[in-house]
Amino acid sequence: MRTPLVALTAALALWACGPDHGALLQPDAGQPGGPSSGSDGGSAATPTWYADVLPIVQTGCQGCHVEGGIAPFALKEYAQARAMSLAMADAVAQKRMPPWMPDPACNRYQNERRLTQAEIDTIVAWANGGAPEGNPNDAPPPREEQAGLPWVDATLDSGVDYTPSTSAGPDDYHCFVVDPGLTRSVDVVGFDILPGQRQEVHHVLLYSAAAGDAQAKDDATEGPGWTCFGGPGTPSPQVVGAWAPGSPATQFPAGTGVHLIPGTVFVMQIHYNTSAAAPVPDRTTVKLQYARSTVRPAYIVPQAEASFLIPPMSSNYSVQSTEKAAPIGLTVYGVLPHMHTLGKHIKVTTTRGACFVDIPAWNFHWQQFYFFEQPYQYAAGEQRILSCTWDNPTTKPVTWGEGTSDEMCLDYAYITIP
Ligand code: HEC
Repeated sequence: MRTPLVALTAALALWACGPDHGALLQPDAGQPGGPSSGSDGGSAATPTWYADVLPIVQTGCQGCHVEGGIAPFALKEYAQARAMSLAMADAVAQKRMPPWMPDPACNRYQNERRLTQAEIDTIVAWANGGAPEGNPNDAPPPREEQAGLPWVDATLDSGVDYTPSTSAGPDDYHCFVVDPGLTRSVDVVGFDILPGQRQEVHHVLLYSAAAGDAQAKDDATEGPGWTCFGGPGTPSPQVVGAWAPGSPATQFPAGTGVHLIPGTVFVMQIHYNTSAAAPVPDRTTVKLQYARSTVRPAYIVPQAEASFLIPPMSSNYSVQSTEKAAPIGLTVYGVLPHMHTLGKHIKVTTTRGACFVDIPAWNFHWQQFYFFEQPYQYAAGEQRILSCTWDNPTTKPVTWGEGTSDEMCLDYAYITIP
């Protein structure tokens, strides 16, 4: 997350003193009744905030850029956007914003956070044209809050308010047991993770675990939950949900669900980042939607390459691994790739030439399920190929592990049989 902030500073510096951007500083360029509000003002072609830019910002930016959101500034009012207009143009033209990691040339996904080229061009033309306000009557209705799940069977949390620790710096990775209290088996078909304190909850991963294993981890250290980084530390953890800022409520692909038996609990791993604000007590909630009719059981199948050693002071160190051939055909609906902070590039393809995901500029802070627009029919005999690339600027070799200074090369696929 450092690079974009550097870019922000650069963009702001340009804005403040760049002679090329004088248009932005013209006193009347964005005033109501200014040149853009009349069709005869000669600037009819310049997009305006209310008519052209706000509709894009509502859907593309306000998931995060609102007061109290994870982004460092709001883009709700004209004055806020006008002050940031050149930075906005730069961020969208360079495709840093909205944050969206997968390369669209590899595959296309549901709920992509991407702008079309026409939307990018509109924001750039608006910023370069002096960021005119336009006519408030052209404004779209305010953004609707994101729709939740169609129904909710359980609303769960850890039962404690937790104040993130700052003893190891601004990042605290903490795991909590969240018990759904299952007395019968259920099929989870959707989840909605609701961070308690948006300004400090940076991402959430929800794992399933056996109750005894999770309780043993919790009991081993004092205080609520335990410190965890790469995973919950329980045997064979399985990811069943993930949230990053801007993530909507997630429903698993229609007709499929994750089967949970009594005795299963969740381990909720929360990454707290307190660099923007002082730590405050958080209680993050997860809502679950259980199937009301029979669904095909889905499995979230990991593929890991764990036998690597990234040499000290190395760059572009890569490993690749090909999994065992599938004995039968499967349907693959999506993937969730996972590395830690030294990760640079992760890619999952198959021996029949399918591309599941390609993340050329990995960012640990934006992890989620990527569900394909079209499920993929995986043939018997087909194999997944996972490749990972890292830079290791440290003076120590780095190997597989769950700690902050360890790495992982891991991919989960959400599948049904067949
Ligand atoms: C999913 C959440 C999210 C969405 C959606 C999003 N942003 Fe951001 N934005 C952030 C976060 C978090 C930061 C601060 C950290 C960083 O720079 O990555 C940020 C920083 C920025 C910055 C300053 C840093 C830079 O890279 O220039 C700009 C400008 C920006 N956003 C513009 C936008 C615009 C314009 C949109 C919509 C087209 C948008 N953002 C959509 C989360 C988001």
